[in-house]
Order: sequence, then C-alpha cells, then structure tokens
Amino acid sequence: MSVILQIRDLYKTYGEGASAVHAVNGVTLDVKRGELLVLMGPSGSGKTTLLSMMGCILRASTGSICVEGMETTGLAESHLPKVRLEHFGFIFQGFNLFPALTSLENVEIALDLKKIRGSRARQRALELLTQVGLTDKAHEFPENLSGGQKQRIAIARALAGDPHIVLADEPTAALDSASGRKVLEILHELTREQNRAVVVVTHDPRVLDYADRIVKLEDGRVAEEIVCSAMKEVVS
Ligand SMILES: Nc1ncnc2c1ncn2[C@@H]1O[C@H](COP(=O)(O)OP(=O)(O)OP(=O)(O)O)[C@@H](O)[C@H]1O
Ligand SMILES: [Mg+2]
Repeated sequence: MSVILQIRDLYKTYGEGASAVHAVNGVTLDVKRGELLVLMGPSGSGKTTLLSMMGCILRASTGSICVEGMETTGLAESHLPKVRLEHFGFIFQGFNLFPALTSLENVEIALDLKKIRGSRARQRALELLTQVGLTDKAHEFPENLSGGQKQRIAIARALAGDPHIVLADEPTAALDSASGRKVLEILHELTREQNRAVVVVTHDPRVLDYADRIVKLEDGRVAEEIVCSAMKEVVS
C-alpha cells in the first residue's frame, strides 16, 4: 500500500507561555491508500487537533505533512481551501447539513464547489446517495431523517469531490448501534472498493471490527500502534 499522507515530527501548541497547551507533541505517522486508520485516546489527547492538521484545517506549529507527495505546512493560507477541496472529504459528528435543502441538494451543493453543476451534478448526487443506500430519501429534508441517515448524507457529501482521503471525527458518536455499524460499513467500503484512505477518530469500540490499524494517542504522542489484519479477516 502506498503512503498517501506522511506526517513527520508534528507539533501543535495552543497559546503561549504559562498557558501554552502542547496538544500534539511530535507525531510521526504514515497513512496508506486503501486503509482505515483509527485514532483513539483519552479526551484531550490531541485526536481532533491531529486530524485537523492532517486535513489542512489547522496549521501545525512545526513539523511536516505531505499530502499525496505535496508538503502542506509551508503553504500560504490562501492555498489551503484548494488543497482541502482536492484531497479531503470531511465528516463530523454534527452532520453539518443545510436544513433548508433536501438530501439531494445537500450533496449537489458540495458538487457545486467542484464546479459540477446542472444535470451532471444531479446524476452524480444520485449516485452518491445510492452508494450510501439512501436514494429513497433524496427529496427529504434533514429534519425528517434519522441521525444515521443524516450521517450517511454527510458521507455522500464528503465524497462529492472524489477525495482520496476521508477524515472523520467521531462519526458514530450520536448514533444508535445499528446506524453506527452502517456508517462504519460504508467507511470500510470506501477503503476496500475505492482504495481511499479513511482516518476515523473515535471512542467507539465497534470501529475496531473495521480498522486496519489503530493508533492510540496519549498527551499528544503516539503511545501505541496496533495492526489489525487478523480482525479484518473475520469481518471480510
Ligand atoms: N482552540 C484551542 N485552543 C486552546 N487549546 C485547545 C484548543 N483546541 C484544543 N485545545 C486543547 O488541546 C488539547 C487537545 O485537544 P483535542 O481537541 O485535540 O483533543 P481530543 O483528543 O480530540 O479530545 P476529545 O476526545 O475530548 O474530543 C486539549 O488539552 C484541549 O484542551
Ligand atoms: Mg476531539
């Protein structure tokens, strides 16, 4: 498997002086194409901070992040939206759907950012809704969807830009067991069927059935790394 995201000696400090918080403290990590990497660790261990830096949402204090061979830490702020759009799909706990738009329109608006519009956008949005198993909800508004369905729309939207890397922060936290599993299955399919890299931050033990590798953070450092190919055999 080839490395798609290369992180070297990465640090993030919030604040300065006596009130400084060293949230990420020298992380070195590779993420490979086609793998589902799980970031775990206690609250405050730096998971969201690390994920945000991976996705160029947050600037690193020092260190290196190479995205598909491109060093991103030195890029001007003005370049970062393009990097995010071209390389990453983001999924967060709160879904972030537009309440006044239908499922289909929520996906179409993400395609619009990639300049895919009109009938092409409609067709692609329907394909993405099919991929997450929600074609029958295409014309529903978010308020009429369950949490799991909303999260699946959020996944469809994250895939709109056809990103090679999908970053998900606690994607199952608000979901019941069956919906959580469905979301994890879809994330797993992204790695197996489409060779995307998926990084999931979670406290959810269910995700372990789908993980290729688990990285445990403690105090902003990698405390443990577990390769779980044995578990994968059981699932697949
Ligand atoms: N914007 C910020 N300003 C200052 N400190 C911050 C900021 N964001 C996070 N921190 C601090 O950085 C550390 C790591 O936070 P982070 O959100 O990355 O942890 P986490 O592992 O995602 O935790 P959780 O499991 O609770 O989501 C914590 O001590 C947190 O208080
Ligand atoms: Mg967090």
